[in-house]
Amino acid sequence: MKSDELSGRVAVVTGAARGIGLAIAQALIARSASVALWDLDAQALEQATPSVGGNALPLVVDVTDAEAVRAAVMQVVDHFGALHILVNNAGICPMTPFEQISEQEWERVLAVNLKSAFLCCQAAWPSLCRAGPHGRIINISSVAGQMGGVSVGVHYAAAKAGLVGLTKALAQRLAQYGVTVNCVAPGTTATEMTATWSQEDLGRALAKIPLGRLAQPDEIAEAVCYLASDRAAFITGATLDINGGLYLR
Ligand SMILES: NC(=O)c1ccc[n+]([C@@H]2O[C@H](COP(=O)([O-])OP(=O)(O)OC[C@H]3O[C@@H](n4cnc5c(N)ncnc54)[C@H](O)[C@@H]3O)[C@@H](O)[C@H]2O)c1
Repeated sequence: MKSDELSGRVAVVTGAARGIGLAIAQALIARSASVALWDLDAQALEQATPSVGGNALPLVVDVTDAEAVRAAVMQVVDHFGALHILVNNAGICPMTPFEQISEQEWERVLAVNLKSAFLCCQAAWPSLCRAGPHGRIINISSVAGQMGGVSVGVHYAAAKAGLVGLTKALAQRLAQYGVTVNCVAPGTTATEMTATWSQEDLGRALAKIPLGRLAQPDEIAEAVCYLASDRAAFITGATLDINGGLYLR
C-alpha cells in the first residue's frame, strides 16, 4: 500500500462515527484521500473526527432522508470540489426474532440498510460519473445477506441481500461512465454492533468461523481501500467476502 495511493480523491463514508465506518474513514485518510464522515449521531461524530486526522469533513446526516442526503452531497462537492468514492456503510442490526418483528421495524431496517444506499447513490452518481475511471461505489453488505445470518433478524438479512442486487444492477448502469460498483460482505466483526450480542449469540457465531475469531474493523477497511484504488479498476459488480471462512459452513 502506498500512503498517497488515493491522493486527490474525495470520499463519503456513511455511518462513520464508529466501528467499521470509522476504520474505513481512517484507512482512506491514511492513503491521502479527503473524507466526509456522515453519521446520524452528532456526539459520536464529534468525538471520532479528531482520531481520523487529515482532510476530514464531519457532517450530521440521516441517510434515510432523501433531502438531507442530496444537501450533504452538495456540501461535500462545494467543500472539496469533487466526489470520487461513495462508501455506503451505515447500518442497524436488531436481533428481533422473526415472529416479533413489527411492520414499523421492518421498514426502519430496510430504510437504514438498503434504501439509504439507493438514496446516496442517486444523489452522488452525477459527481461520481464526473470522476470517470476513479468513480467508486462500495456497499457494505454482510455475510447475513448471503447465508441468512447466524443470529441476526430476517429483515437485516433481507436488506443486506438487497444491497448485493443493487450493486450488480448499478454496476451495469454506471460502467459506461467508468464508475465501478462493488460490495464488501463482512462476517461478524468486533464493533459496538456486536458488543451488544449475548454470550450465547456470540458463541454461536464464533463456533461457525473456521478461523476462530471475529474480524477487526481495519480488516474490512483494508478491502474497501483496495476496491477504491486504481488497482481494482477492472472489478465491478463483485462481492468480496471477509468472514474468516464463515461462508463455507
Ligand atoms: N459488526 C458486524 O459484525 C458486521 C458484520 C457484517 C456487516 N456489518 C455492516 O457493517 C456496517 C457497519 O457496522 P458496524 O458494526 O460498524 O456498526 P456500528 O453500529 O458500530 O456503526 C454504525 C454507524 O451507523 C450510524 N447510523 C445508523 N443509522 C444511521 C442513519 N440513518 N444515518 C446515518 N448514520 C446512521 C450509527 O450512528 C453508527 O455510528 C453496517 O452496515 C453493518 O450492517 C457489520
